[in-house]
Amino acid sequence: PRTAVIVVAAGRGTRLRAAGPKALVDVAGRPILQHALDGVFRMREPAQVIVVAPPGRRDDAERIARACAGAASDYVSVVEGADTRQGSVAAGLARVEDGVDVVLVHDAARALTPTEQLDAVADAVRERGTGIVPALPVADTIKRITGSAVIESTIDRDPLRAVQTPQGFPRALLDAAYAAATEPLTDDAALVTAIGGEVATIAGHESAFKITTPWDLRRAELLVDAAPA
Ligand code: CTP
Ligand code: MG
Repeated sequence: PRTAVIVVAAGRGTRLRAAGPKALVDVAGRPILQHALDGVFRMREPAQVIVVAPPGRRDDAERIARACAGAASDYVSVVEGADTRQGSVAAGLARVEDGVDVVLVHDAARALTPTEQLDAVADAVRERGTGIVPALPVADTIKRITGSAVIESTIDRDPLRAVQTPQGFPRALLDAAYAAATEPLTDDAALVTAIGGEVATIAGHESAFKITTPWDLRRAELLVDAAPA
């Protein structure tokens, strides 16, 4: 394949407060990781898929990945992640095959991301030759506050975006960004812009929200239950 998708699923899910790692928590009877991989394996062009599993739970991730991959299972590998998301992505990046020139990094926690969003990011990276991040306008009014929670000012939200995944990059650019990374930054796009790389946004999708809190899990469950089978 020309494209690799690193699905990071190694997080603990502290804010979800479930018994085990977030990616293995069920949404409507199937683990979050399985929902996420279903979207990845429906991509238009077959991609190399690298699942970054919760530490110590490689076997569980492997079982889910094999079940989702079906005929594409030659292109799937599973590695264990690290303490930080950045470390987990780096573990996945080390497994990208020769011949791949576009790499997508995707949160397993964005379990209901439409396949079209994965295809659109991969296409846009190839067309523009830059990093590509799906993004949504910010709906709420945003305030800057002081240390004592008093409002200081209102931020103009027009140029603000909330970003999602997959974040896609020319492989060489992402490799260079990770090689140069020193301090932990919040996402892959931040590492790429830190070395002067260009990252453009495309329209994101509401369904690509990240399952972070119990409320998000409930929302995902309602959406899956409401979707036609
Ligand atoms: N992730 C990872 N390795 C980590 C931390 C996060 O692979 N050390 C992954 C998560 O599995 C998730 C994605 O990065 O798919 C986004 O992270 P987040 O939503 O913050 O997940 P968690 O870190 O697991 O949740 P929390 O921050 O609430 O603990
Ligand atoms: Mg986290």
